[in-house]
Parts: sequence; structure tokens; C-alpha cells
Amino acid sequence: MKIVVIGGTGLIGSKTVAILREGGHEVVAASPNTGVNSITGEGLNEAMAGAQVVIDLANSPSFEDKVVLEFFETSGRNLLTAEAEAGVRHHVALSIVAIDRTDNGYFRAKVAQEKLIEASGIPYTIIRSTQFLEFLSGIAASAADGNIVRISPGLFQPIAADDVAAIVADVALAVPRNGILEIAGPERAPFSEIVARYLKAVGDPREVVSDPEARYFGGRIEEYSLVPLGEARLGRIGFDEWLRRSRAAA
Ligand SMILES: NC(=O)c1ccc[n+]([C@@H]2O[C@H](COP(=O)([O-])OP(=O)(O)OC[C@H]3O[C@@H](n4cnc5c(N)ncnc54)[C@H](OP(=O)(O)O)[C@@H]3O)[C@@H](O)[C@H]2O)c1
Repeated sequence: MKIVVIGGTGLIGSKTVAILREGGHEVVAASPNTGVNSITGEGLNEAMAGAQVVIDLANSPSFEDKVVLEFFETSGRNLLTAEAEAGVRHHVALSIVAIDRTDNGYFRAKVAQEKLIEASGIPYTIIRSTQFLEFLSGIAASAADGNIVRISPGLFQPIAADDVAAIVADVALAVPRNGILEIAGPERAPFSEIVARYLKAVGDPREVVSDPEARYFGGRIEEYSLVPLGEARLGRIGFDEWLRRSRAAA
């Protein structure tokens, strides 16, 4: 089967491409670096020709509210138009748990991306994931003020990129749900506790302060703002195992 992975060179994209190629599929790892650009349209029609499945794992180069909204709207429109012309039979996109009940600029952009997919008429599956364990360092950086890192004590259930990629590959080969699948890591704990555990494990001396008023990319976090409320498919890799693997890979 021919599968196009938009953002196929990124964190989740490169892992997903490897899994699908291992399974014997013809996979196009599409990104600006490989001559396929979902914003300018460059290389899109050629990449889509003969494809049955398109997996959208692209991400905006900037997380600034206006830029990220424009990115996901323009990219989504261009992809879905090219897919309709090519007769693609399954559009899979990676979104984020709670984007429709927790407010920040990035989440609003992901809501816009989902709406375009739902209105496109192309059979689809939207996978809403919790935050990636690989994103912990970026989260700490965005919440740091000198040596203090302020994080909400709301619940957090991060998932390893390897688990995300395995589920994305699996979903891409299954029948479209025309709906949403939620996925999360196997462990749930207060956000501030997980970030503190991460910083300690990597020898980062910054101190995590648990602060209910601390914002997450500008948005307020309540107890259940970032975790699935209903049934979710869980990854297998917990924090300790992820750390062990990350150290081994480094
Ligand atoms: N971070 C999280 O915790 C989290 C949680 C849930 C869901 N997600 C979602 O997961 C998805 C993948 O995230 P990631 O961390 O794997 O992303 P990433 O590592 O930042 O990779 C982004 C990918 O997008 C590509 N890209 C950028 N601009 C493009 C364009 N104009 N046309 C085509 N491709 C373009 C990049 O290509 P180049 O290498 O050529 O620049 C790269 O392959 C995102 O949609 C994100 O919203 C993230």
C-alpha cells in the first residue's frame, strides 16, 4: 500500500515511516526537506499520486498564536484538496487530548485543523494524544523563570514517541473511524511532579514549584485539563523505561 507521511522527517513522522516501511509498505516521507511542502503546495500532487493513506504529522515551525493557526489551516486545506484529487481513502492526523476544553493558541489551531478534516468528506481518523515525554524539556524551558519552573499540579499523562508512532502506524492500516481515538501514556500523576522527576533525572538543578495559577502555553490548567476523560488507548512505555531508552539512544 502507498502511504504518504506529511512531516515524515519529524519526531513522530520518522518513527512512523520506519515502522510502516518495516511492514513492507511504500512510504513517502514528505517534508520541505524532501521537496514536499504543505504550505506552498510544492511536490504535493506528485507525492499523493496513487496513495491510499495520508498521515499528517507536520508541525508549525513557530508556536506563536497567529502563525500556528495559519499553519494548520493552510496546510490542512492544501493537503485535503490534494487528497480529494488523488482519491485518498484514509486521512490520519495527530491531534492533542483536550484541545476543545482547554484554551491556548496552539490548541485553537489544532481545533481548526480537526474541523477541516471533519468537513472534508475524506474518510479519516483523528488521533488525539497527550503530550509526548520527549516534550518535557521544552515544557520546562517554556515555564522557566531563572532557576524556578512553575508548573500546575493538574493531572498529566505523557506518552513516549515510540508508543505514539506504533499506534499511528496501526491506525493508518485500519479502517477509518470517521471519529476520534484518544491515546495516553501508562502513568498519570500531577504535571508538576512529572516535570520535577524529569529535571532531577537529567541532573537539571532548576526547582519546580507546583502552582495552580501556572499557565500552560498561556492557558489555565485545571485538574483534568490535559488528560483523557473517557476511554483511551494506552502506550506501554512508562517514564523510567523511556528514560532508560533515551539514555541508551544517546
Ligand atoms: N508535542 C506534543 O507533546 C504533541 C502532543 C500531541 C500531538 N502533537 C502533534 O504531533 C504532530 C507531530 O509533532 P512532532 O513533534 O513529531 O513534530 P516535529 O518533530 O516538530 O516535526 C515536524 C515535521 O513537520 C514538517 N513540516 C514543517 N513544515 C512543513 C510543511 N510546510 N510541509 C510539510 N511538512 C512540514 C517538518 O519537516 P522538516 O524536517 O523538513 O522541517 C517535520 O518533518 C504535530 O501535529 C503536533 O501538533 C504533539
